[in-house]
Amino acid sequence: MRATDIIAKKRDGQTLQALEIDWFIQEFTQGNIPDYQASAWLMAVFSQGMRREEIVNLTLAMARSGEQIDLPALVGGYAVDKHSSGGVGDKTSLVVVPLVAACGVPVAKMSGRGLGHTGGTLDKLESIRGFRVELSFDEFARLAREAGIVLAGQSANLAPADKALYALRDVTATVNSVPLIASSIMSKKLAAGANGILLDVKVGHGAFMPNLEQARELAQMMVNIGVDAGRDMAALITDMNQPLGAAAGLALEVQEAIATLNGRGPADFTEHCLLCAAHMLRLAGRSSLEAARQQAAEALRTGAGLAKFRQMVELQGGDVAQVDDPDRLPRASLVQTLVAKQTAYIAQVNALSVGYAVLDLGGGRLTKSDPVDHAVGVITHVKVGDRIAPDQPLFTLHANDPARLKSALDTLADAIRYSAEPVAALPAVYDTLIGSPA
Ligand code: URA
Repeated sequence: MRATDIIAKKRDGQTLQALEIDWFIQEFTQGNIPDYQASAWLMAVFSQGMRREEIVNLTLAMARSGEQIDLPALVGGYAVDKHSSGGVGDKTSLVVVPLVAACGVPVAKMSGRGLGHTGGTLDKLESIRGFRVELSFDEFARLAREAGIVLAGQSANLAPADKALYALRDVTATVNSVPLIASSIMSKKLAAGANGILLDVKVGHGAFMPNLEQARELAQMMVNIGVDAGRDMAALITDMNQPLGAAAGLALEVQEAIATLNGRGPADFTEHCLLCAAHMLRLAGRSSLEAARQQAAEALRTGAGLAKFRQMVELQGGDVAQVDDPDRLPRASLVQTLVAKQTAYIAQVNALSVGYAVLDLGGGRLTKSDPVDHAVGVITHVKVGDRIAPDQPLFTLHANDPARLKSALDTLADAIRYSAEPVAALPAVYDTLIGSPA
């Protein structure tokens, strides 16, 4: 086989065979296909798209390019996983993983770091003193087996083909292709080995997918890939026009997650966590969605979810005193609250602006090696549809540097739009897609 033939075939809009895709991905991973040919191929895929069977074959080839984890063997039964396409204030895994584990369904999850305006679960967990996210495979396996809960970094050799292709996509303007995004995300999920996968596909200002049509296309494509690869799938398309919950920023989000596990979380975030937990429990065959939601709500009410979170922190070397007293988490030195100047209805709270403000404060990274400040962030006090009065708090900024605080304030200046007329609240969930192998 020759790389040029495969590039030309895709360039001309033909369908690639499984053998061709396998060969291309394998040779590229081994360094036998240079970056310039892989880049040309990516651009051909970007322009011509792919058929369902090509996307599945590409995903499977990337999943096979490195280590493949036998997750059911590790957890001793049906294994569930979740993935969020990323957003602002999305600390869902911190609550959902312990809730599901507390309901008796083990969760051994590999998560990522934040990049750009979206935060990453690993960075959030590292706000807790001593918490280790870099675990050896043996330790990951032991915690999965013995505790039924582990949240750690992705093994370095998981889907290496995706890692290398993603680096090329980043610099060749080929990131924003639905087949390439779907295969990239799903290659890592398939290699991570769960039987059932919940996808939380965000849509809106602060999301990767700006509109519902694209979000639905991406979600459906990922569900199709999972089903064709023999996995049980559920995908929620959820709102990311405004931040999820109130807190955006690493330690602030951990604090909000702990408050939620204590039954004192923001209503929208608590409901989102219960819904995600219910879908994961249903995938694991526990019960109907409604009964699964009740089970998750019970784990929240009794504190069983919080106890599971505390156990995870302890087993991964974290300081449980910070879980018991979240005021001990990193705190910023400067705290400033912006208040409303008028009576109005909130028409928009732009999640992207809030995400950028967190970046301005130093709470995120623009490149993978940037350091992060765990203490800084933004609390959003209002939601679309709220009626506000003068002096009512809109945002509270937590900063460690006056110049950074100033630039975050500038970024937030236009984040809120007002209306004199009542505004409807935003829906939390726009669509739900379900799929299982025949
Ligand atoms: N996340 C991924 O893992 N891959 C993409 O292509 C986009 C988002």
